[in-house]
Amino acid sequence: MAVLPIRSVPDSVLKQKAKKVPAIDGSIKKLIRDMLETMHAEPGRVGLAAPQVGVPLRIIVIGMPEEEDLVLINPQIVRRRGERIIDEGCLSVPGYFGQIKRAESITVKGRDRDGKEARLKAEGLLAQALEHEIDHLNGTLYIDHPEVRETLRKIQPEEIGL
Ligand code: NI
Repeated sequence: MAVLPIRSVPDSVLKQKAKKVPAIDGSIKKLIRDMLETMHAEPGRVGLAAPQVGVPLRIIVIGMPEEEDLVLINPQIVRRRGERIIDEGCLSVPGYFGQIKRAESITVKGRDRDGKEARLKAEGLLAQALEHEIDHLNGTLYIDHPEVRETLRKIQPEEIGL
């Protein structure tokens, strides 16, 4: 296992649309283990998408406090409900923080690390983290959302670990 360096803006890998994972082979499993280790390398990180470690593939990991780690391969948001304005930051945009419009709850489907179909409904921080990480797979950073531009401000690095 290895802690991988985090890519940050303006790295072009962050702007690419990541490719679907065709099969969960040994190299994908290793990448997932490394992503989990990288996410847990600093306290407060709650999610990571493969493009953030330089790999343009559709894989995300989520580590909610007190919860088991969540790995989703080829995730898709199938339903969004409600709307709220919340604070958000990103490891790949160090030192900043802004306010974004996110769903109240979402339903996501994808595959787990064994390739089994997974479907989950999420709200609160988990829903936010899932939306944020799935945005990464589409080459979208939270600062690309138009409403964030107006509220963007400087913070201590990694105050918010998305
Ligand atoms: Ni991020």
